Amino acid sequence: IIHPVILSGGAGTRLWPLSRESRPKQLRRLLGDRTLLQDTARRAGAWAPPLIVSNAEHRFQIAEQMRQAGIAPRAIVIEPSARNTAPAAAVAALMLGEEDPSARMLVMPSDHAIHDTDAFRATVEACAAAAGEDRLACLGVTPTRPHTGYGYVERAAEPIAPGVAPVIRFVEKPDADRAKAFVESGNFLWNAGIFLFPVAVYLDALAETRPDMLALCRAAVAQGQQDLDFLRLAPEPFNAIKGDSIDYAVMEHARDAVVAELDAGWSDIGSWSSLHEESESDADGNALVGDVTAMDCAGSYLRSEDRLLVAIGIEDLVVVAEDDAVLVARKGDDQRVKDVVADLKARG
Ligand code: GDD
Ligand code: MG
Repeated sequence: IIHPVILSGGAGTRLWPLSRESRPKQLRRLLGDRTLLQDTARRAGAWAPPLIVSNAEHRFQIAEQMRQAGIAPRAIVIEPSARNTAPAAAVAALMLGEEDPSARMLVMPSDHAIHDTDAFRATVEACAAAAGEDRLACLGVTPTRPHTGYGYVERAAEPIAPGVAPVIRFVEKPDADRAKAFVESGNFLWNAGIFLFPVAVYLDALAETRPDMLALCRAAVAQGQQDLDFLRLAPEPFNAIKGDSIDYAVMEHARDAVVAELDAGWSDIGSWSSLHEESESDADGNALVGDVTAMDCAGSYLRSEDRLLVAIGIEDLVVVAEDDAVLVARKGDDQRVKDVVADLKARG
């Protein structure tokens, strides 16, 4: 049986002003009536109730969103601080492994969109069947451009099952030149950030690359405290962890991993332009979300939930009005939103 593990600890600053530390993108309704976290949990529900790893600030929002979606999570685990994804997955592996050492976990980010749920589930099943009980696996997506914010997975020419091949190497966030070469070679997939791990294999891999991290995760779970419906990891050991991602701490070093190709309309909704692509647009290419009126506009993403937004004669802009902040940006410039947020934060 496959145990879904949902990671919900990131903030996603490229979608400012909608995504904030207090209310990150996965907890907002970006597309349709459900939040990305709710969509993720529903996708995962095919296998078993999800184990969610998050932080103290978001715990009640998460519990409430699960209640609204009619999903009873297996557990909501609270990290005392953000230490990136490798410890979060280790904690989940330790908890699941305690009950069933042969358990497998499906580690999923909480902030992606996947259009075709059936195709997603079929890919995970095929991957599970091919990877078996002793191999680490990830899902890969055919790259469309040399994006430097993703992991790249080189796959062997010979598949071991339809759509599933051994990983030759895993390169997290290459620079622009390498990313370009990878995409041109045709042998690489983007890492979708979704992993299928036999818990014992993941823990063994971490014991090799980061024994310090694993020991602290063990202590944080062992000394954890149940608080209402939440499991609070013990702060002292957990805060002492030197954080790292699954990609750097484990996948880059993995021997014998496999990758399954995911063709299910995956997007990590990393920016306003990519959210625009995912959203329904009118004949002029405008996505109008909320209380918005547009006249003679084209190619723009216009969003305002709490007040009327009127746009006249604009082209290729992103306009997002929130209660306390408004973003106006050229569509091509929206990767720079992150820099603005960093600036704002530094200024206090
Ligand atoms: N619980 C917890 N704790 N969750 C976390 C933490 C943490 O400290 N840090 C990040 N997360 C969650 C995020 O909310 C997100 O859902 C997921 O883990 C992945 O983290 P990101 O920070 O979004 O990773 P990334 O986008 O830079 O890179 C990953 O995803 C790419 C695909 O979108 C990597 O796996 C790349 O290789 C991959 O291509
Ligand atoms: Mg991400």
